[in-house]
Amino acid sequence: MYSNQEIDKAAGWLSKAEKIVVLTGAGVSAESGIPTFRDALEGLWAKFNPEELASREGFMANPRMVWDWYESRREKVRQCQPNQGHYALAELEKSKNLVIATQNVDQLHHRAGSQNVLELHGNILANRCFTEGNLLKDEELDWTTLPPKCRCGSYARPAVVWFGEFLPETILSRAMEASRRADLFLIAGTSGLVQPAASLPLLAKQNRAKIIEINKEESALTAIADIFLMGSFAQVMPQLTTATIKLL
Ligand code: OAD
Repeated sequence: MYSNQEIDKAAGWLSKAEKIVVLTGAGVSAESGIPTFRDALEGLWAKFNPEELASREGFMANPRMVWDWYESRREKVRQCQPNQGHYALAELEKSKNLVIATQNVDQLHHRAGSQNVLELHGNILANRCFTEGNLLKDEELDWTTLPPKCRCGSYARPAVVWFGEFLPETILSRAMEASRRADLFLIAGTSGLVQPAASLPLLAKQNRAKIIEINKEESALTAIADIFLMGSFAQVMPQLTTATIKLL
């Protein structure tokens, strides 16, 4: 657990910071009911094989199975709501210069009202052409097969980044640039194991940014955190926002 003094110290830094970057991971959506990836029991990668379900090779081998798995995840995402942590972060953005680089594909930051969101790993609710890569609206698809097809005859696929794929170039470079310039970097709900997202706080650290981390347990990034707030995002983030706004 963390102390009130640690919250106050973190809030003091946040209130003075001029360029804040927040890196979020699956843990920030856990309390909205969306499973994380690496939890030993409930994590998606404990139950499912990422090579089969989250790679181009897996999709080519069994497009229908991969499509159906993403449909079930989409259904879950549509039913879930942002939690108090998402709302508190959106509230903080109203009074601070802040950019969120999220690894999450669930759109919950947007739905909570955050404006400045960089989706490093894409958006699960959108589709792209498997061959050409362009985004496709539902009405542009031929639904006589599943997965549905693009006009070019190729299958549509979810607009997420799979293992072995590059992150969207412009979004990644914006996140890297913001991280290099940041004077405060907040890490929340990520194991810090997946690159290149996990390197963003290191870019900030090189610029002497202060690093605050919120996580239920220590992560691969805890070693570089100046303040580690051990707790759940939906509990800690509202406290941090309230304490910060009081100082403004
Ligand atoms: P992980 O599942 O690897 O890590 C989730 C982290 O959230 C862990 O460190 C947990 O301790 C923490 N956590 C869980 N519940 C929490 C809570 N209520 N409050 C605070 N922290 C909590 O998820 P990511 O780090 O997001 O990539 O994984 C990174 C990427 O790996 C994902 O974007 C996904 C996956 O493969 C793609 O799909 C491309």
